[in-house]
Amino acid sequence: MVSCVATRRSLSSMGRVFAAIYDRALAQTEAHGLADKRAALLAGARGDVLELGAGTGLNLPRYPRDGLGRLVLSEPDPHMARRLRARVAGERPGAEVVEADAAALPFADASFDTVVATLVMCTVDDPPRVLREVARVLRPRGRFLFLEHVRAHDARTARWQDRIRPLWQRVGAGCRPNRDTLATLRASPLEVEEVRDDRMPRTVPLVRPLLIGEASRP
Ligand SMILES: C[S@@+](CC[C@H](N)C(=O)[O-])C[C@H]1O[C@@H](n2cnc3c(N)ncnc32)[C@H](O)[C@@H]1O
Repeated sequence: MVSCVATRRSLSSMGRVFAAIYDRALAQTEAHGLADKRAALLAGARGDVLELGAGTGLNLPRYPRDGLGRLVLSEPDPHMARRLRARVAGERPGAEVVEADAAALPFADASFDTVVATLVMCTVDDPPRVLREVARVLRPRGRFLFLEHVRAHDARTARWQDRIRPLWQRVGAGCRPNRDTLATLRASPLEVEEVRDDRMPRTVPLVRPLLIGEASRP
């Protein structure tokens, strides 16, 4: 019991540290191209939009200014959510922040036209379940826009991703660098419409392979 409480406390303080350093840790990567890749992806957002695991809100300034309905940002981590709320208040006061787990979304079936996930599928505990939730909350022909760092195609880097995963997951707030997110998407109820390989700029090779694309709810 005591060790359980201690573990919870240490996880919570790790979450606080991760949230506090997140924007600074990504600053070079954003400046050298990730911010532009976010903007290109989010240009495809339409209607009522739900973002999963919105973190500190790095996508917020990249959403189109016109043509969106509701913009709902879900984020289960309270330290991230606090920063997210501050950014929403300053940059997009109409957006709603909801502290929700992507594996159990508190929304009715067919509530959104677009669901967005950027750098999230590496961190969730149960990716197939999350994609089932995405399919559930999307309206028919609604779109799932994703930008995710994934398992490398080359076997050598993939082996390193497998080896480093336990440590990386511990220090990276749950991030698994070796996830084959495209395979998970193809096995999900969504239909993959467009997908391309890309590279995360200015970062270590283990998290460089990026998968960017769009899937739809049939
Ligand atoms: C690497 S950060 C990415 C943040 C943001 N999406 C971005 O592009 O900068 C991963 C985020 O996923 C969130 N997350 C972790 N598990 C989650 C879950 N089960 N459901 C929704 N979000 C989750 C984390 O709290 C964190 O904010």
